[in-house]
Amino acid sequence: MEQLLNTIANYKKEMADFTAVDEKQAEDFRIKYLGTKGIVKAVMGEMKHVPAEQKKEAGQLLNEFKQFAEQRFQQLQEAVGSQSATAASLIDLSLPGDTLPMGSRHPVVLMRNRIVSIFQRLGFAVAEGPEIEDDWHNFGALNLPAHHPARDMQDTFYVQQNPDWVLRTHTSSVQIREMEKGKLPIRMLMPGRVYRNETISARSHCFFHQVEGLYIDENVSFADLKQTLYFFVKEMYGKDVKVRFRPSYFPFTEPSAEMDVSCFICGGSGCNVCKKTGWVEILGCGMVHPNVLSNCNIDPQKYSGFAFGMGIERPAMLKYGVNDLRLFSENDVRFLKQFTTAI
Ligand code: PHE
Repeated sequence: MEQLLNTIANYKKEMADFTAVDEKQAEDFRIKYLGTKGIVKAVMGEMKHVPAEQKKEAGQLLNEFKQFAEQRFQQLQEAVGSQSATAASLIDLSLPGDTLPMGSRHPVVLMRNRIVSIFQRLGFAVAEGPEIEDDWHNFGALNLPAHHPARDMQDTFYVQQNPDWVLRTHTSSVQIREMEKGKLPIRMLMPGRVYRNETISARSHCFFHQVEGLYIDENVSFADLKQTLYFFVKEMYGKDVKVRFRPSYFPFTEPSAEMDVSCFICGGSGCNVCKKTGWVEILGCGMVHPNVLSNCNIDPQKYSGFAFGMGIERPAMLKYGVNDLRLFSENDVRFLKQFTTAI
């Protein structure tokens, strides 16, 4: 009897000290003390060792012990239950959420993506190359040997440490890199940043961006060039825009042309954008010069191709109504954040 009293007292203390912060811990209590293999059951089993004359007293003690365990369990359950109830009352579902500051794509990137996605639908893939180029890729291979007068057309930045290096003046250098790989046919777009030594103003900058394109296969003709660019113009500026080609000169293409579209601002009647001519020049193009193909180990008897190149800033200025080229490179957040919702 004395032993039983001791055991009960110890367990009662243990139960009183038992704390639970969540339902799982309250359940741990239930399993430990009130479960089918729990302590209360085990202590009740001690009844059989109690002499007959003390059985009544022991029975009362054990019943009281069981009730104690049950009460403690109830307390613990209430404690963890009321805690989650408090948490719930602290959540105000009507509060507006935290707004995160939204980033935006740069307008030049937006315009590049537009241009690229149109040609991608025709099966053109994207290629990139280094911005510091050697003379061969920027000039030599493009049929501009040393001292060729056309090198002056593009005011080149030279790298002081190495006279053979330039900041690329066009992404045509990437066309050479693609052709040199020797995998034909080629249907590639070359978007990227280019550098020319020009005075910085609202209308010109010492770096800007281009997308060039190259298509090389057997039997590629000027008709393919025109149809590809017609498709581009229709997708980019709408189906009512008119197109015209003017003969031009690039050392790396023959024949060469410049392509104009009827002014999409005034519709051709004459405005500031088209300088009252009704036409806006958008790109240069032509059939890849046989010398360029030979320079890249492509047989000009077997293969032919066309190439084109356009600036990104000008169409971006027209589309987004930007009147100063410098805004594109100053990274003024007040300017950039206006493009948060643009696509
Ligand atoms: N590389 C020329 C430029 O930067 C553009 C061009 C590319 C023209 C391909 C014709 C063919 O001005």
